[in-house]
Amino acid sequence: MDKPKKPHIAEESMLIQAKEILIGNTRDGRYTVPSSRLYPYQWNWDSGFAAMGFAHFDLKRAMLELKTLFEGQWENGMLPHILFHSRKTEGYFPGPNYWRSDLVNAVPSALPTSGITQPPVHGFILERLVDQNSDSTEVKDFAQEIFPKIVKLHQYYYSYRDPNQEGLAYIFHPWASGRDNSPLWDDLIQTISFDKKDLPSYQRVDNLKADPSERPSDRDYDVYVYLMELAKRLQYDGRLIAEESPFMVQDTLFNAVLIRSNEALIHLGKRFGRDVQQIEEWQEQSKKQFDDKLWVNELGLYAPFDLRNGHHIQMKEIGGYTALYADIPAPRRAEEIRSQIEEIAQPEKDFRLMPSFDPMHEIFDPKRYWKGPIWPQMNWLVYQGLKRYNFDEMASKVKWDFLELVDKLGFHEYFDPRKAVADQLEHGYGGDRFSWTAAVVLDLITDK
Ligand code: GLC
Repeated sequence: MDKPKKPHIAEESMLIQAKEILIGNTRDGRYTVPSSRLYPYQWNWDSGFAAMGFAHFDLKRAMLELKTLFEGQWENGMLPHILFHSRKTEGYFPGPNYWRSDLVNAVPSALPTSGITQPPVHGFILERLVDQNSDSTEVKDFAQEIFPKIVKLHQYYYSYRDPNQEGLAYIFHPWASGRDNSPLWDDLIQTISFDKKDLPSYQRVDNLKADPSERPSDRDYDVYVYLMELAKRLQYDGRLIAEESPFMVQDTLFNAVLIRSNEALIHLGKRFGRDVQQIEEWQEQSKKQFDDKLWVNELGLYAPFDLRNGHHIQMKEIGGYTALYADIPAPRRAEEIRSQIEEIAQPEKDFRLMPSFDPMHEIFDPKRYWKGPIWPQMNWLVYQGLKRYNFDEMASKVKWDFLELVDKLGFHEYFDPRKAVADQLEHGYGGDRFSWTAAVVLDLITDK
């Protein structure tokens, strides 16, 4: 690959804007919404990244972001994907009154939450806060306070989401993967049958606020609701859901993030003089199992495993690449993964990195949400992984391709990977003034 050129971008003004966005998306002085119009509550992994962004200019706020997020942790350790600090249904479905989290004993009483979770980024985000501020007692005290909560979250995954004790957590809803309508779930979703009249009537609003051609289809949405209803009926008990749910997937991204966060907890725990034996045991099994079970030779990449139907979901998708950040593959596999990325980056293909889905696949859709666009937090994860394996040139391309897009098209939710098309656009896709876009910009620009 040619050495990537660093594009001319307005770094200083981007940093200023990024800070303004995080500050502007702050609610009650203590948590961030992903974007004010589209996502008006606190989202789980979005807040993890927001904390990483705040850490660059307001450490107290970074800590408060995580602290507020863990107020939503259930008794059993689960951390929901949405916290409804405000009970107002602010034009979002499914809102605070949908989930009935109050019916589950395990829920902090006053705070309505959703009943599904999201990729557990908190361990490695905390590690960054600690490492970047190693002489701050305030950060150390905070880390000591939140550490057991993150361990409890991981304990939840190993106890409730790993029915065969394999060391890989399963998810029962596409939203828990963080990649709502990824083509990964398409075939599986087709197999899920139900009578539409058994679903509660609902009104989606996401497609009224954003361009419907960039959003999931109506049939996808019905399946999302069906799976939520099933989980609600079983009081969100991960063990019972494992017996019934037609959607049961050991996801790549989810488990790579869990493993990377385990690593962070081991590192932090040792530093604080805690017993980390349990986490080390999880980690040893999970890393090995991820590498053994999720690798697909034909793809030259990791892929999710459909636990209900007993096969891999054989597609090249962005989650598979995040295994690098968790230090999972040995050098030969890591090189295979790198060469897959190089393939996409061939100049004649004219893509920016890193499309969220295989651009050579017929289902690839460069505009539609998780079916192809570039996502900020995913570029960040892939960038960190490439750096970890010293694939510096490729890492640099993943970083600057993203920064260039934000510079040209604004702090949007996701972006068109086709260079020729994106260069003619006036803005990115989905929500605007997006928190994790701002956070990733702050982190990548400052990372020299
Ligand atoms: C979408 C994304 C999810 C994110 C949420 C809020 O649902 O797929 O990953 O957490 O928006 O930004």
